[in-house]
Amino acid sequence: MKRKYAGALICMLTALAVPLSAASAGDFSVSVPSAPVSVWLGDSVTLPCSVTPPMDVSPLEVGWYRPPHHHAPFLLYKDRRIDINLHEPQYWGRVFLVGLGSGVGGLEGGNASLSLRNVTVADSGEYGCYVNSGRWYDTGSISLQVNKLGSIPVLSVHPGVGGQQVNVSCVSDGWSPKPSLIWRNREGRELKDQQGLFYSTDPQGLVTVSGWLLFSPSDSGWLSCTVSLSGGDSRESRVAPHTPGTDESVGCIARFIILLVLSVSAISVVTVLFIRSRKTSLTNSGKDSVELETKALLAEGWKDIIKHAVNFELDNETAHMHLKISGAKSVSFTLESQNRTSSKVFTHHPCVLGKEGFSSGQHYWEVEVEDPVGREVKKAWRVGVAAASAPRHFYVPLSTEKGFWLFSYDEAKGCHANTHPEETVFRGLKLKGLGVLLDCDEHTVSFYDPEQKKLLFIHRELRKGRMYPLFSPGVSDHHPLKVCDLKVLISDCLDDTDDMDRVLESNS
Ligand SMILES: *[C@@H]1O[C@H](CO)[C@@H](O)[C@H](O)[C@H]1NC(C)=O
Ligand SMILES: *[C@@H]1O[C@H](CO)[C@@H](O)[C@H](O)[C@H]1NC(C)=O
Ligand SMILES: *[C@@H]1O[C@H](CO)[C@@H](O)[C@H](O)[C@H]1NC(C)=O
Repeated sequence: MKRKYAGALICMLTALAVPLSAASAGDFSVSVPSAPVSVWLGDSVTLPCSVTPPMDVSPLEVGWYRPPHHHAPFLLYKDRRIDINLHEPQYWGRVFLVGLGSGVGGLEGGNASLSLRNVTVADSGEYGCYVNSGRWYDTGSISLQVNKLGSIPVLSVHPGVGGQQVNVSCVSDGWSPKPSLIWRNREGRELKDQQGLFYSTDPQGLVTVSGWLLFSPSDSGWLSCTVSLSGGDSRESRVAPHTPGTDESVGCIARFIILLVLSVSAISVVTVLFIRSRKTSLTNSGKDSVELETKALLAEGWKDIIKHAVNFELDNETAHMHLKISGAKSVSFTLESQNRTSSKVFTHHPCVLGKEGFSSGQHYWEVEVEDPVGREVKKAWRVGVAAASAPRHFYVPLSTEKGFWLFSYDEAKGCHANTHPEETVFRGLKLKGLGVLLDCDEHTVSFYDPEQKKLLFIHRELRKGRMYPLFSPGVSDHHPLKVCDLKVLISDCLDDTDDMDRVLESNS
């Protein structure tokens, strides 16, 4: 898109008759790419703009603006100096002309490209670049697309009205620009049955997409919801809904009854926000990634759990080179690489194991993910167990198949367990610490909120053989992940165990 002053046309005609001199800029045109430029949120981007034929624009005026405000460029280059518009503070410190001071490859060669750093969602849209010689003016416009992947879609299943169908809904937020949402069955065929699709935009400009679909579970074992950007980057979740009225519905009723019974008996201990029966959900964990607030509840007495508390140190010899171990119980991410030569180290994932592995009995430990003094909450962490044989070298996914059973947190997803084929996501769950109970005899590892004394999740189907506690402080911050000291942990809990006994007694 170009616009030339009418007068410029006359100049151009005149210029054709006059030999072009370097000093007096005659006719030129501003060229910009016609395709949108795209960038990931937070990255830097160059918006190309140059004059043709190539000529020195350093004595001229160059402006960058958001159309239609060509009279108020946010960056103005004039009289060989840069002016950043004081009325547009969102650009301060983030924009510069890439060609400034770079000789013939830069402004002197006609390169008026703009670099924009730390791109925000508000930066997406049209940009105008103009070059003005006083006698001649041309402008071009470029569009910038700012991309951001949103959250993992959360699926939930509701009984359909009457018949054999269920109403499955899929929600994902934090996208830029507007994504598409596609339902597919197990065979990968796109489903176009009766469905609905809605978009909303939050104050930061990020888009939430939500869709629903009426689905007959007999059609296919599971269905997936894929949310994608036009470039192809996407996130997917799957769910295996059950038809109301088949055997599974007995499970539903059983669930409901269990929910009622347990919430009545445990009402003073925990708040049950969501529960699936242990029979269906905990053995099949991961088959469906349903919306979870916090699920399940304390099934055994807390005392029974903490009596298995064990004391161990972190094994420095297994730690990734960017992990710092302090006081044998605390691990943090560091930019300085630590000199470690052991063949036991994790070479890709920022992980460390406990010194002691366990192959029989039950073992409980707790980690702290919030610094109780500084109130610094870690932005990411992983906690769980790894099989002795789990690979530590090069890139392998930290999956249960590879021998990692984990409970993790990061800012984008929140808390999640690495179930397969989809992760189980715990929306809105906030933890200060995490309790881990490894039961080598039952081949399970359970994760608890030690503050609420509440069971969060159980990984069943652990392999046989020796298991090591695993910890990762993530790479998003330098705060430590700490394994709690046995004495602190137990004394902390002793205060409440008498109360717990009374509650358990009064309910039995
Ligand atoms: C850009 O982002 C980096 C890293 O997030 C930050 O350190 C820097 O201060 C930001 N710069 C501007 C100009 O906002
Ligand atoms: C302008 O300069 C930038 C940075 O050196 C470069 O990436 C870009 O290709 C140049 N554009 C032209 C048209 O030469
Ligand atoms: C399916 O559920 C959504 C809400 O989750 C609702 O808006 C929609 O109307 C339902 N569709 C049908 C056909 O019941």
